[in-house]
Amino acid sequence: MRILSGVQSSGKLHLGNYYGAIRQFLQLQDEGEALYFIANLHSLTTVRNAQLSRELTCETAAAFLALGLDPSKATLFRQSDIPEVLELYWILGTVVPISNLERAHSFKDKVSRGISSDFGLFAYPVLMAADILVYGADAVPVGKDQIQHVEFARDWATKFNLTYVPGYDPAVPDAAAGQARGVLKVPHARVQESTAVIPGIDGQKMSKSYGNTIDLFAPDAEIKKRIMGIKTDSTPVDAPKPTEQNVLYRLLQIMSSPEQFQEIDRSWRSGGKGYGDYKKMLLDLFHAAFDPARKMKNELMADPATLERILQDGARRARALAGPIIAEVRRAVGLA
Ligand code: ADP
Ligand code: TRP
Repeated sequence: MRILSGVQSSGKLHLGNYYGAIRQFLQLQDEGEALYFIANLHSLTTVRNAQLSRELTCETAAAFLALGLDPSKATLFRQSDIPEVLELYWILGTVVPISNLERAHSFKDKVSRGISSDFGLFAYPVLMAADILVYGADAVPVGKDQIQHVEFARDWATKFNLTYVPGYDPAVPDAAAGQARGVLKVPHARVQESTAVIPGIDGQKMSKSYGNTIDLFAPDAEIKKRIMGIKTDSTPVDAPKPTEQNVLYRLLQIMSSPEQFQEIDRSWRSGGKGYGDYKKMLLDLFHAAFDPARKMKNELMADPATLERILQDGARRARALAGPIIAEVRRAVGLA
């Protein structure tokens, strides 16, 4: 099974990104042939500063490696190192209905918020579909917000095959029993239903757009400030604490082991400890969980040559998969 996903390099990674997405990516590297890339072409729709763009790409790659991506198991690369993606993006675009793009969330959301939009944002789902289809991916692990985009990739792969592969039957896309095989493989979205939304320090969904994140790689003082700033109510120290809608309780649950949480939950429900004590506990859990990765990320950032070598090696492996597929696409449409 070929697993593929992309992460935009448009900001710092936070606990929501880790527990909601990255942790699953890392688990999947043991389940199949995993390909992960830094979607730095997509990021150009939001980051308009060359130096920042480079830095965020390196930071994101270093973060993934530090958090446990093993380059001998999974292929890690930069989207912009694969020219085949941009070639498929154009060719695929010639079969994409405008009406699909008009109802794409990425575009509709901005328009509804009155933000003026550009062609890049409008065409964003086509680039994402090209990302997926150019490697013949089977499974695409994504958050709920990205399901629509994977559905588009499925629809457009099918449309491409129907247009260019004589005898293609979408009902038997893998061409059992001698049917015509599609040029583009129809992928599946893989959504981790069990991963609930991780709350931010103010109780809304943790998101960089809400400024309520606990970042994985921020300096110690900033982490402490954020955790100490988690919104709590005025339950007295001695009283049992409410568990519903309580950000601190939820974050402790997410970050502790089942055994640790049993103990936390017991004292939480019986009272005797103040929120400050629990915040301190969360801070310790944070450091225990992420300090090794924080240290390793710093080491990787201080050694750009190693990082570059890993990304180049990943790009070479990714291009080896994309090459034969784009060659078949070119033949199918008559460019070769
Ligand atoms: P942000 O909302 O901070 O801009 P992104 O949209 O870049 O985050 O998120 C990348 C991925 O991380 C999402 O597809 C989603 O799976 C996951 N993610 C982000 N925030 C959360 C959260 N609060 N809870 C669970 N998963 C999250
Ligand atoms: N659009 C995705 C996001 O914002 C990132 C992405 C780009 C992606 N290309 C992809 C994800 C291909 C999965 C597959 O999260």
